[in-house]
This record gives sequence, structure tokens and C-alpha cells, in this order.
Amino acid sequence: MRDIFPLHFALAPLPPARLLFPLLLLLAAMLASPARAQTSAVPDTIAQRVAACTVCHGKEGRAASDGYYPRIAGKPAAYLYNQLVNFRDGKRHYPIMTAMLDNLSDAYLREIAQYFADQHPPYPAPQPSRASAAELERGRQLVHAGDAANGIPACIACHGARMTGLAPAVPGLIGLPRDYLLGQIGAWKIGVRKAAEPDCMAQIVQKLSAADISAVASWLSAQTVPADSQPAVLPAGASLPLECGGQHALEARP
Ligand code: HEC
Ligand code: HEC
Repeated sequence: MRDIFPLHFALAPLPPARLLFPLLLLLAAMLASPARAQTSAVPDTIAQRVAACTVCHGKEGRAASDGYYPRIAGKPAAYLYNQLVNFRDGKRHYPIMTAMLDNLSDAYLREIAQYFADQHPPYPAPQPSRASAAELERGRQLVHAGDAANGIPACIACHGARMTGLAPAVPGLIGLPRDYLLGQIGAWKIGVRKAAEPDCMAQIVQKLSAADISAVASWLSAQTVPADSQPAVLPAGASLPLECGGQHALEARP
């Protein structure tokens, strides 16, 4: 296999150390100081405050299809909120994000999550894949049908038939860079990314082989996002193949 998960995880890009501290101060100040509006001509709007986030996540949170930074625009609001809480509270690890979110209240994180959930900038074209036809076919199969013999449900059962996510708390799987997908699945595999219990993704990832993980990441990152990229909604009465915590995050934390 070409990629080794822990290595990928370790490769999440950090700015050089000499830039890190000033950058952090600047980003934290942009997010945290409502008083600024009184002393400068910059309006104190949520869009202005989260400009700090777009330094890495791109204009309106659109990211790019290569590289590592994930798109955050248009993802389900409760999913984004759960991730911000997870970085703040140490269930996901990226030191700059944790430092920025450290002192922010749940209410402010909800506001930030809703802002990015409401953004729908266009998606970049997918990256051309270097994977073999057989690997891509294995990826397609896992995503659409799963692997019953190994107890792996189809990814689309939770991530939506068009893979654009399922409101309120399951993210889409397309429009993400291959390295980011490998990084996240690898992080679950080695236990450094955790979601609310029961952590259904952690259970699924334990059943995926290294070859499976490479196959799904290759296939998913080569797909074009459909014109209607809105997350799907779970039909009334339907349920997910496994129970996933975090589905009621926005209601559960008033
Ligand atoms: C210095 C770069 C940087 C800055 C600034 C930054 N992020 Fe991130 N963000 C990242 C990286 C890298 C990841 C992926 C980390 C990982 O491996 O889990 C990430 C992940 C995320 C995720 C999870 C995405 C997903 O699909 O699971 C969310 C949500 C997010 N960031 C929101 C924000 C918000 C909101 C801000 C501003 C308050 C922000 N980020 C500022 C680099 C950054
Ligand atoms: C039982 C439902 C379920 C199934 C089936 C499922 N997932 Fe997930 N997945 C989730 C949930 C819920 C999350 C969000 C977890 C969180 O809050 O961090 C998630 C998150 C993810 C993420 C993180 C995305 C991001 O933006 O960071 C990836 C990657 C992922 N799943 C891949 C897969 C793949 C590949 C499959 C099929 C092999 C799959 N999932 C099957 C429920 C599911």
C-alpha cells in the first residue's frame, strides 16, 4: 500500500514554527474581539470574524481538491458544530484549531457552524486518480454496496445516496482531497479521532483493511460533486444501519 496512515496523519501541514505564534495571536484576536468594531472601520460581522478560518479553509470555506485542508462550506450544521466541539475538547487534534477554539462558548461555535453550513460556493474539479481500475472498482463497491461478508455497511447508507451527506450530522464524502480522507480514516483507525458515542465510524473503520481504505479514498476523491450538493435528509421512519452519536447535538446542547 502506498500510504501509511500515521504518517499521513503526521503530515497535516503546520506553518513553520517561527510563524506559528504570531499567526495564532492574530487568528485568535480576529475571532475573539467584538471591541474592535468600535475602534476600526471593519464591521464586526460573523463573516469578518471567521476570516481567520478562511486563511486555511479557503474563501467561504471552499478549500481546494488537492492538499489537505478540508472544505467546510455547506456541510451539515450539526456536523460542523460537533467537529468544533471535538477540536476544542480534544477528541480531534490539530493544535492551531484547538488553540483558536479554546475559549469559545458552545453558542459561538454554533453560530460559526451555521455560518459555514449556509455557504455554498462552487466545488473545484476533482483530482485525477492514479489508482488502478481494480482499486477504483473496489472503492466504488464499498461506497455503494459495502461488504456484507466483512460486516461493512454501504457508505451511502449514512452519507447519502449522492454522497453529499445526511442532515443534521453526517458529512458528505465527496469534494474532499484524497490525503484528507486517508488522514481521517487513518486517525479513527489509530484512535486519535473520536466522535460522540456510539462512534459508528470507529466501528466501521476497524473492519476496513488498508487496501480498502486506499480504495475508498481514491474512488471518492475522483468523483465530481453533483450540481445539487445539498445534504440529503433521512426519511421519516428510516434509520441508519448502525447507531451514531452526535445526531442530536444541536438540540442536546441548548
Ligand atoms: C492553520 C490552519 C487552520 C485554521 C486557521 C483553521 N483550520 Fe479548521 N482545519 C484545519 C485542518 C488541517 C483540519 C483537519 C485536521 C485533521 O486532520 O483532523 C481542519 C478541520 C476543520 C474542521 C473539520 C472538517 C471536517 O470535515 O471534519 C472544521 C469544521 C474546521 N476545521 C473549522 C474551522 C473554523 C471554524 C476555523 C476558524 C475558527 C478554522 N477551522 C481554522 C486547519 C485550519
Ligand atoms: C452508520 C452510519 C455510517 C456509515 C455506514 C458510514 N459512515 Fe462515515 N461517518 C458517519 C458519521 C456519523 C460521521 C461523522 C462523525 C463525527 O461526528 O465526527 C462520519 C464521518 C466520516 C468521515 C469524515 C469526513 C470529514 O469530513 O472529516 C469519513 C472520511 C467517512 N465517514 C468515511 C466513510 C466511509 C468511507 C464509509 C464506508 C466504508 C462510511 N464512512 C460509512 C456515519 C457513517
